[in-house]
Amino acid sequence: MSETNSLGSRVLLIGGAGYVGSHMLRNLLTCGITPIVFDNLSSGFRRFIPKGVPFVKGDLRQLADIRKVLKKFKIDCILHFASAIVVSESVSDPGRYYENNVLSFINLIQAMREADVQQMIFSSSAAVYAAPKKLPIAEDALLGPNTAYGHSKLMCEQILRDVAAAHKDFSFVVFRYFNVAGAYDQGGIGENHDPETHLIPLILKAALGEKKSVQVFGDDYPTVDGTCIRDFIHVDDVCDAHFLALKNLTKSARNQTFNLGNQKGFSVKQVIDAVKKVTGQDFKVQICPPRAGDNPKLIADFCKAKEILGWKPQRSLEKMIASAWAWEKNRKAGLLA
Ligand SMILES: NC(=O)c1ccc[n+]([C@@H]2O[C@H](COP(=O)([O-])OP(=O)(O)OC[C@H]3O[C@@H](n4cnc5c(N)ncnc54)[C@H](O)[C@@H]3O)[C@@H](O)[C@H]2O)c1
Repeated sequence: MSETNSLGSRVLLIGGAGYVGSHMLRNLLTCGITPIVFDNLSSGFRRFIPKGVPFVKGDLRQLADIRKVLKKFKIDCILHFASAIVVSESVSDPGRYYENNVLSFINLIQAMREADVQQMIFSSSAAVYAAPKKLPIAEDALLGPNTAYGHSKLMCEQILRDVAAAHKDFSFVVFRYFNVAGAYDQGGIGENHDPETHLIPLILKAALGEKKSVQVFGDDYPTVDGTCIRDFIHVDDVCDAHFLALKNLTKSARNQTFNLGNQKGFSVKQVIDAVKKVTGQDFKVQICPPRAGDNPKLIADFCKAKEILGWKPQRSLEKMIASAWAWEKNRKAGLLA
């Protein structure tokens, strides 16, 4: 059984075997907090969960699975990282996204209500926003996802708001991540998606020689060098925000939604150049036609998280790349797989 920790709450990490979840797990363990991990291992890895951490293999799409866990362990707070995350796949196979992300979420809420679990921190995404009229993008900017992935996240957010309005003891925090990157400094875990669709690991795979080239989609956008501009945030900065939310969940952060980004944009070409500099490797870059639906610039406004949580990103783009590079090299060498 989990014990009440220094934060005074017992934590269930759903999706704790995945990229962001496993980093949150390491961060919690470093602070002496042992959560329970629930994951179906569809895109996560058993080896990302250190020995001694209680692990339950279960699927959120099955109400019985999550019900069982919440009945067995007395949980105070759920950190919810589980999701299907491939944006392009959500366009070609929306049903899978609504089932895995929304149906699962309804199961989770039902099991929480039955077990009297009243707190959740939910990983949402910048994909909930409409094409921005103003930059940086604040939390009150126009919402309007253009993919089933983005819609699935927004639906979960809405469910949380409705549940909190109906049940006064319920508290949540929603985090809308921009582009999460980097890896845990002590090694052993990192970004390992299949298929990989995120920019930095794709570039690093080209630097490692695992990919022939890096594809750049469009170089004629109204930006500094014609390529799209994105906001990257170190995974450990994301974890820091979760700690602050845990501490303030029933206080200042209660039922709030926060962006997590750097409020700094880097163009795809700038990221490629930064990878070349950090890794010392050269590789081919292939310019491809622009993709439908790609916004030229997406940059987060993180003022609300700063004001209410006292959060501010601490780690640079170079740090994200260097830590991810260390992870990728070890992964390729088979040291971690
Ligand atoms: N990585 C990013 O850049 C990014 C950006 C924005 C938002 N997010 C959000 O952050 C969260 C974590 O993303 P990630 O990159 O770590 O993804 P990931 O795929 O690495 O991790 C997701 C984890 O959830 C588990 N999972 C998925 N469906 C499940 C189910 N039905 N039941 C139980 N477990 C299930 C997977 O096995 C995996 O371990 C997701 O909610 C994602 O939408 C991530």
